[in-house]
Amino acid sequence: MASVPEVTLRSGNARPMPAIGMGTAKFPVVPETTRDAVLAAVELGFRHFDTASMYSTEKPLGEAIAEAVRRGLVASRGEVFVTSKLWCTQCHPHLVLPSLRESLQNLQMEYVDLYLIHWPISLKPAPPVFPAKPEDAVPFDFEGVWRAMEECQRLGLAKAIGVSNFTTKHLDKLLATATVPPAVNQVEMNPAWQQRTLRKYCAEKGIHVAAYSPLGGQNWTGEGNAVMDSEVLAEIAQARGKSVAQVALRWIYEQGVTPIVKSFSKERLKENLEIFDWALTDDDLLKISQNPQKKVVKAIGILFPTEGEFTSVDPSDIDIVEE
Ligand SMILES: NC(=O)c1ccc[n+]([C@@H]2O[C@H](COP(=O)([O-])OP(=O)(O)OC[C@H]3O[C@@H](n4cnc5c(N)ncnc54)[C@H](OP(=O)(O)O)[C@@H]3O)[C@@H](O)[C@H]2O)c1
Repeated sequence: MASVPEVTLRSGNARPMPAIGMGTAKFPVVPETTRDAVLAAVELGFRHFDTASMYSTEKPLGEAIAEAVRRGLVASRGEVFVTSKLWCTQCHPHLVLPSLRESLQNLQMEYVDLYLIHWPISLKPAPPVFPAKPEDAVPFDFEGVWRAMEECQRLGLAKAIGVSNFTTKHLDKLLATATVPPAVNQVEMNPAWQQRTLRKYCAEKGIHVAAYSPLGGQNWTGEGNAVMDSEVLAEIAQARGKSVAQVALRWIYEQGVTPIVKSFSKERLKENLEIFDWALTDDDLLKISQNPQKKVVKAIGILFPTEGEFTSVDPSDIDIVEE
């Protein structure tokens, strides 16, 4: 079984975070497929899983972990690191704790290792629709929502708390009022979207960065994949005898960032874990640092509306452009 290094988070009381996580966002959701993939991942050595109330994969993830314990693949739930996230319709101070309790109910767990604010966007409390309706956006109460997140940690229901899709601007606002600083900021990051400004800022503030869409995502926009189709990465992969995916994941790891990668295929899950016993050369790193930059994941049009007045929300708060 692959041996995976761990990262100690600088805020909260979570167990160390394994340096690669398995993503579980896949639409439409097929619970049995998610469950089987998570079980296969545990068997191969994954101990870090990423879900969100918005993905509807909390339940199958929790079932798979319970099954992994029953089968003796792990001794207890404490051997895995589980992240879930608060959706925008719940980003209101009084809805944070009930939302986490609902996630825990879905997961059949007593705590999550990490609870994140999914986006710095607040929508009127209502069942989520995609894309959201422009008139449903409301101002984000950074102070009130973060206080409620801190309460989740104080109660032990989340061992650590953090954010996702936050820019330096959002983090400035949050840190100005936070008693507990966010442990993690989970953002899109990969060789084609390197997030240098944000990473430098997070390193200075002790906020660990986790990289979603480390392989360029699931091509929701149909625009191709700037990571998997990269010639630079293909050349490096060939020279090292690795796959393009492994080069991308290894590069992220070498930047001190934790990739959250989704695969539901046993072969590719195994491949994605095999990145810890070799290294990129200085020349590889230089070439990757010169890779053209292109943000891959577009939330506008899919999660949030393209048209109309998305009241109080600056588009740069959604598809972060901060290179
Ligand atoms: N916080 C946020 O707002 C946010 C946003 C997006 C994603 N996320 C999280 O991050 C996770 C990962 O991001 P993502 O799903 O967008 O994209 P990703 O992990 O970059 O890419 C996933 C795609 O790559 C394929 N793949 C995986 N390993 C591969 C390999 N070794 N070789 C070739 N193809 C491979 C997968 O297909 P197969 O399954 O067929 O292998 C899947 O289609 C999500 O599942 C979710 O948990 C968070």
